[in-house]
Amino acid sequence: MEASPAKDAILRRHLDLPADLGSAGVVPWEALDEIAQALRMPTDGLLVDVACGRGGYGIEIAKRSGTRLIGVDFSAVALRDARRIAARRLGPGRAEFRVGVLTDLDLPTGVADAIMCTDSVQFADPPAAALSEFRRVLAGGGRLALTTWQPTSPGDPRVVSRLRNLDLRRELESAGFHHVVVEQRLRWRAAERGAYEEAVATVDDGRDPALASLREEGRRALDSFETLQRIVAYATAP
Ligand SMILES: C[S@@+](CC[C@H](N)C(=O)[O-])C[C@H]1O[C@@H](n2cnc3c(N)ncnc32)[C@H](O)[C@@H]1O
Repeated sequence: MEASPAKDAILRRHLDLPADLGSAGVVPWEALDEIAQALRMPTDGLLVDVACGRGGYGIEIAKRSGTRLIGVDFSAVALRDARRIAARRLGPGRAEFRVGVLTDLDLPTGVADAIMCTDSVQFADPPAAALSEFRRVLAGGGRLALTTWQPTSPGDPRVVSRLRNLDLRRELESAGFHHVVVEQRLRWRAAERGAYEEAVATVDDGRDPALASLREEGRRALDSFETLQRIVAYATAP
């Protein structure tokens, strides 16, 4: 992915992202206003971007809100990119990136004013363990923003197993969060479809593994596109 300008270009076009944002998910640019507002961070507060990948979305939100940023991901390669991008977009000293996992952030209890986790909570095994960890790391009243997918029909066998029974409202409430809002975003889903359609139609020399992987992911996703809903969730820590 790090060395695939073709894949980045396809996603950038359909998600309307600026060049060199440094993302790995499929969150469109229009979502960032909404997420930044929902997180309601105090200037000088601390935002934690969990499974941040190359960090672009968290860096952009920290920039808009004037907060400090800690990004956590289990890919040291992605974090190397994130450090470079943060130095360019935020300047020195505002952001730190650490290797960690969704279910163990290795951060003190109650340290974060806000946590965001884009297109990644479904990788935690189980997602409920990640939500408990997010609650532990958030200060009381701290805000959480998640983007992911949920099955249109719970338990649908055509849906990958990690998403098949995901029910964020139930999981967030069980983890003790308040003010839980879980909503569908049809326009985000349409942008994602556009990117997959272009990836599937792109002819290349077969030497770009990230493009090949997006094409494969696109084929699978388009085959049963209606089985998943694009979801954003917000909640407040008690
Ligand atoms: C689809 S990408 C999203 C990255 C970023 N949040 C974004 O939206 O651009 C998923 C990310 O989750 C990370 N990841 C997957 N499983 C993880 C785990 N158990 N702990 C920490 N990071 C994980 C991957 O390394 C990857 O960077």
